[in-house]
Amino acid sequence: CGIVGIVGNEQATSILVNGLEKLEYRGYDSAGIFVADHNEDYLVKSQGRIKELAEKIGEEVHGTIGIGHTRWATHGEPSEENAHPHTSQSKRFVLVHNGVIENYDELKRKYLANDDFYGETDTEIAVHLIEYFAEQGISTKEAFRKALMEINGSYAFGLIDKNDRETIYVAKNKSPLLIGLGDGFNVVCSDAMAMLEQTNQFVEINDGEMVIVTKDRVEIEDEAGSEIQRAPYEAKIDLADMEKGTYPYYMLKEIDEQPATMRRIISEYTDETGTVVIEEPLLQSLLTSDRIYIVACGTSNNAGWASKQIIEGLANIPVEIHLSSEFGYNMPLLSEKPFFIYLTQSGETADSRQVLVKTNKLGYPSLTVTNVASSTLSREASYTMLLHAGPEIAVASTKAYTAQIAALTVLAKAVGEAKNIPAAEEFDLTKELGIAANAMDIMIAEKTMIEGIAEEYLATTRNAFYIGRSEDYYVSMEVALKLKEISYIQAEGFAAGELKHGTIALVEEGTPVIGIITEAVTAPHTRGNLREVESRGAHTLVIASEELSKKGDQIILPIVHQFLRPLVSVIPGQLIAYYATLLRGYDVDKPRNLAKSVTVE
Ligand code: G6P
Repeated sequence: CGIVGIVGNEQATSILVNGLEKLEYRGYDSAGIFVADHNEDYLVKSQGRIKELAEKIGEEVHGTIGIGHTRWATHGEPSEENAHPHTSQSKRFVLVHNGVIENYDELKRKYLANDDFYGETDTEIAVHLIEYFAEQGISTKEAFRKALMEINGSYAFGLIDKNDRETIYVAKNKSPLLIGLGDGFNVVCSDAMAMLEQTNQFVEINDGEMVIVTKDRVEIEDEAGSEIQRAPYEAKIDLADMEKGTYPYYMLKEIDEQPATMRRIISEYTDETGTVVIEEPLLQSLLTSDRIYIVACGTSNNAGWASKQIIEGLANIPVEIHLSSEFGYNMPLLSEKPFFIYLTQSGETADSRQVLVKTNKLGYPSLTVTNVASSTLSREASYTMLLHAGPEIAVASTKAYTAQIAALTVLAKAVGEAKNIPAAEEFDLTKELGIAANAMDIMIAEKTMIEGIAEEYLATTRNAFYIGRSEDYYVSMEVALKLKEISYIQAEGFAAGELKHGTIALVEEGTPVIGIITEAVTAPHTRGNLREVESRGAHTLVIASEELSKKGDQIILPIVHQFLRPLVSVIPGQLIAYYATLLRGYDVDKPRNLAKSVTVE
């Protein structure tokens, strides 16, 4: 979910709606705003996208203070009733919330047995609870604090008391929240992007803190109520990078941006002599560790898999890849000197953050590889490497995946070189990553051919398989995920050799099975596996690198360094997913049920 708020600006309505549009990547199940001036106030909510909310907001909705919310449903179905902002029993308090309140049932029973509830969300309990305490005759600030003390779970709250239309109260625990500083007004947002048109000066809020925001003051208080001073930072995001330009969808723009991102990574991480440079303390920390644990979700997890061989091959450190949501609660026996790498495009994923909190407590060093500077995981890890990919807006991640692999290649090269490992010394990063970027360009230029393939193979199918071995298997997992996320085709990325041990039972007449073949030793075996499914009726397709290609292969990948093959072999699959989705008539950038940044566990 995403939240926005503003106090002190007459254009509150349009600023909130505009901010919510920028936060739509956090969820678009429903949305709402509350806007007020001294005499009037308006609450407008709607199911679905911000566009639908905007259409519902009439001319008369105006004010100088307001809060807004775009929802990714957790408790309660996506509906207008369950859309935020929520109001208290007497309607005096209005609240937006991002996160999950774990003990809402208990709170309801303990304090709110006589209240009427409008929807089914945990948030509604919170706003009723605030009013319950306020009715005991204490100030709004104290009532809010008392409620916070009772609430277990994750939250970023924005609260307005209609009896004081000059203040927004905010609080945060585990969910992201920033305060933006304006001239004569101040704003609140889940992500700086939402308010960049208003300001580039932001103040970070830490867990447990409460902030009282008026048009000319921002008071941060710790849990005990003592005031904290914190200097703002400047958000360095170029608004132009967030525009779609002439592209029909962000996803296509972001696929196209991948070669440029590779070139930017080369220039960001090499000096004028071409030497790869990473922060010295980060390098030293890696040199003393005996095992790397990559912890990540979704596409970032797949990028971890695709980078495993690169790190092991160049830096000679064993690498394990883990799902964040599993690792935190089911931690394996760790090595003596573990080093944690958190891969996260957004830097905000709650599942990954919960593991970081734990490994920080255990005192282990960590690196966050992220696209978002100043994000939560970036701030809380020992080190950060930025992806320099520019904002990624489409829910299905593309350029962050390849940028993560490239960033980890930089890391592996630096560590391997410091350890005098021959494979690392021989690996010319600038040259090889440059060749890979050119190869990506060549693949991207094949859009028309790939669109035809999507039409032939995926226009109507119910399911599909991508198969490959070793790194081709890892890429298969990623491109199958792309297909699932946006085209809703049930797709699996499978280890080619394993298919015959059970899953082949799903192959029927016409089932698309796409083989990725970039490795000489496994190529004949994967081809054998394709023949096995063909003889059972599968409609097969081959994506093969040039040196291993055979007559009849449909997609040929240019030759690149063995470690960098995933950067190129992933591109046809990204484009196949894109075109299959267009053909099937779905929204490429905003697939159903998903959010780009999931800030609940
Ligand atoms: C969400 C998105 C995925 C993404 C995953 C991890 O579920 O829908 O596309 O891969 O989160 O996000 P992160 O920002 O941590 O890379």
